[in-house]
Amino acid sequence: MEITQSEFVSSYADVRKCPPPNKPEFAFIGRSNVGKSSLINMLTKRKGLAKTSSTPGKTQTINHFIINNSWYLVDLPGYGYASVSQEKREGFGKIIEQYVLQRENVHCLFILIDARLKPQKKDLDFIYWSGSRGIPICLLFTKSDKLKKNELQKNMSLYQSTLLETWEELPPIIITSATEKMGRTELLTFIGNALAEEK
Ligand code: GTP
Ligand code: MG
Repeated sequence: MEITQSEFVSSYADVRKCPPPNKPEFAFIGRSNVGKSSLINMLTKRKGLAKTSSTPGKTQTINHFIINNSWYLVDLPGYGYASVSQEKREGFGKIIEQYVLQRENVHCLFILIDARLKPQKKDLDFIYWSGSRGIPICLLFTKSDKLKKNELQKNMSLYQSTLLETWEELPPIIITSATEKMGRTELLTFIGNALAEEK
């Protein structure tokens, strides 16, 4: 799988306004600032396609990108952004919950997790919330360039053993770095396989 064409479609504040669900889509979700938008730019090799920022809370809407004229990549707002109001902070946010529960053409939800952190409750809760609803998930560990190899390995094994306390099987896991373009081939192969399975 290679991306030969990528184009921003539009931003939506309401899942019901999204494009008709007649093409496969893959969505990026995770805590604010984890690197969702950066990873979309890394995959498409287009620096400014998805808007990124060092300040959390940059992406506030559902953003569709059409890839190779045949499937969508979707950039979502982050969850767990501490400075939004208490009301907004409950759950994972209305937009995210509606998207995950209502969007029927999602082939995989990529859940992004900062590779530098020990397992965080909010991420484990989200994995549980989506996984237990039978939604296909894949974990993408981000910013792995910021860790030494042995620290990364330590964090990965801790994460896996934490997940195995709740789950019988581990979901697919890909280690990435947007700055180092790490995990790009693995991610595109994963998407290619998921698309091929549908045919
Ligand atoms: P929200 O839209 O606010 O939810 O954030 P996001 O998850 O889309 O994160 P975004 O891609 O905007 O990146 C947040 C910050 O992390 C930016 O300053 C990026 O440059 C930085 N960043 C993202 N990915 C990486 C990475 O792989 N390595 C490093 N070193 N920095 C990264
Ligand atoms: Mg973003």
